[in-house]
Amino acid sequence: MFLGLDVGTSGVKAVLEDEAGVLVASAARPLSLSHPQPLWSEQDPDHWVEAVLGAVDDLARTHPRETAAVRGIGLSGQMHGATLLGRDGRPLRPAILWNDGRSQAECAELERRCPELHAIAGNLAMPGFTAPKLVWVAKHEPEIFAQVAKVLLPKAYVRYRLSGEMAEDMSDAAGTLWLDVGARRWSERLLAATGLGLNHMPRLVEGNEPSAVLSRELAQRWGMGADVVIAGGAGDNAASAIGLGAITPGDAFLSLGTSGVLFRVTDRFAPAPEAAVHAFCHALGGLWHQMGVMLSAAASLSWLARILGAPESALLAPLGASVDRPSPVQFLPYLDGERTPHNDAHAAGALVGLRSAADRGDLVQAVLEGVAFASRDMLAALGRSDQPIAALDLVGGGSRSLLWAQIMADVLGVTVHRVEEGEVGAAIGASRLGRLAATGAAPADVCRKPRRLQSFEPRAAQRAAYDDAYVRWRKLYPALKECIS
Ligand code: XUL
Repeated sequence: MFLGLDVGTSGVKAVLEDEAGVLVASAARPLSLSHPQPLWSEQDPDHWVEAVLGAVDDLARTHPRETAAVRGIGLSGQMHGATLLGRDGRPLRPAILWNDGRSQAECAELERRCPELHAIAGNLAMPGFTAPKLVWVAKHEPEIFAQVAKVLLPKAYVRYRLSGEMAEDMSDAAGTLWLDVGARRWSERLLAATGLGLNHMPRLVEGNEPSAVLSRELAQRWGMGADVVIAGGAGDNAASAIGLGAITPGDAFLSLGTSGVLFRVTDRFAPAPEAAVHAFCHALGGLWHQMGVMLSAAASLSWLARILGAPESALLAPLGASVDRPSPVQFLPYLDGERTPHNDAHAAGALVGLRSAADRGDLVQAVLEGVAFASRDMLAALGRSDQPIAALDLVGGGSRSLLWAQIMADVLGVTVHRVEEGEVGAAIGASRLGRLAATGAAPADVCRKPRRLQSFEPRAAQRAAYDDAYVRWRKLYPALKECIS
C-alpha cells in the first residue's frame, strides 16, 4: 500500500493506493490563508502538519488495515512558499506563499545583483518564487533574516516533521531561483545574491528517490512498520504530471486549481523567460518541464461564488453543458496579480462590457471565458517550441465542469480530455513517487495514463467567435494597465 500526501493551498489531500495502483481511500482537511496586508499571502507551517496528520488519522480510522500496510509515502506540495526555520528547527514567521506579491521590487534588485540569474535559474525573478521573498525579509525583517538557519518549501517542512530529515526534490527546488536547473544542483552564485549559502539549503534528491524514513512515533500512531520510505516527492504540478502519466516529452495538461497551470514535459532544460514561462526540473531524473502559470483560475470562480453568495454548482447549472456564443461581458482574472505572460504582481481583475441587460449567467460565463483566454495566453507563451500542444488533459477542481472543458476546447483550439481522478492527480502522483522510492520500480510501469472520461473537440462556429473575442480581450490588459496595476 502507498500513501500520497498533497499539501495544497486550500487544503491537504491524502490518498491510499494499493499494490495494483488502484485508489483505495482518500481524506481531506481544509487550510485557510491569511492576507495581513494587500498582496500578502501567508500560512502557518504548523497548520500544514496538523492537516496532514489529521488526514492520515482519518484514513487510519476508516481504513486501518490498509493504512497499516503502507510501505512508501510520497509528498506533493504547493510550490515556492518560503518556510524559514531557526536553529531549533522551528518556523521563525508565517510562510510567505506562491501567490504573495509583496516582493516585486526585490525581484528587480535580485536581477541587478545577479545578471546571470536567467541563464542559471532559467526563469524570470517573479515575486511568487522563493528567493525574492528572502530579499524582502532581509530588508524589512532583518532580525528574522539574521536567525534563518534553513529555508524549506512547504512539503519539505512537512517531510521534516514526519521524519526529522531536511531534503528537497528537484522539481520543487527549481521554483526557488537558487537551483542551477540545467545541472540539477544548488547554485552558490544564486544563493549568494540572496545573502544565503549552501548551508541554508536542504539536501537534494530526485522525486522518485528515497529521502527519509517515517518517524517511529508516527509509524506507531498509524500502525505502520518501522521502515516506511518517504520519497523525494514533487512540486504539485510535477506531481500532477506523474499522476497523469505525463513523463514523455510533449505530454501536456492544464490544471484548473486555485492557480491555473499549463504544463509540458521537455527532454531538456528549455528556458523561455521572455514570456514569463517557467522552466523547471521534472520529478524524474533526466526530464524537465515548462509551465505557464496564472494565479487565479478556479479561484476566480470561487471569488464570484463568494460575492454572489451562491455555491459554484448553483452558478454553473443554469448555463448547461455548453454555450453558443461568447458572453457580452469580459473578465480579466488577475485577482491576485499575474505571472505568465505579464509578470505583474500588481495587476488586478476587471469586468468589462457591463450593460443593464447583463445578468448573473453573463458574469459566470465571463469568468469561465476570462480564465480560458488567459490559458490561451499561456498556450501562446509555451507555443514557441518544436513540440506544439495539440491535446490537453484537464485536471484540478475546475475540471469537474463539463461547460468549462468545452469552453477551453473552443477557446484554445485543442482537444481537451477529462480524466478519471483528475481532481486528486497531485496526491496520486505523490503516492506513485512513494511507490517508486519504496520498490525501485521503473517509472514507465507505474506512471500510467488515467482513463479518459470524455473528450471535447473545438467546435468551428464557436472557435471563430472566440477568436474574435480573444482579440478584443487581449487589448484589455494594455489598455487598462494604468488603472489596474
Ligand atoms: C507554480 C505555482 C502554483 C503553486 C500552486 O509555479 O506557483 O501552481 O504550485 O500550488
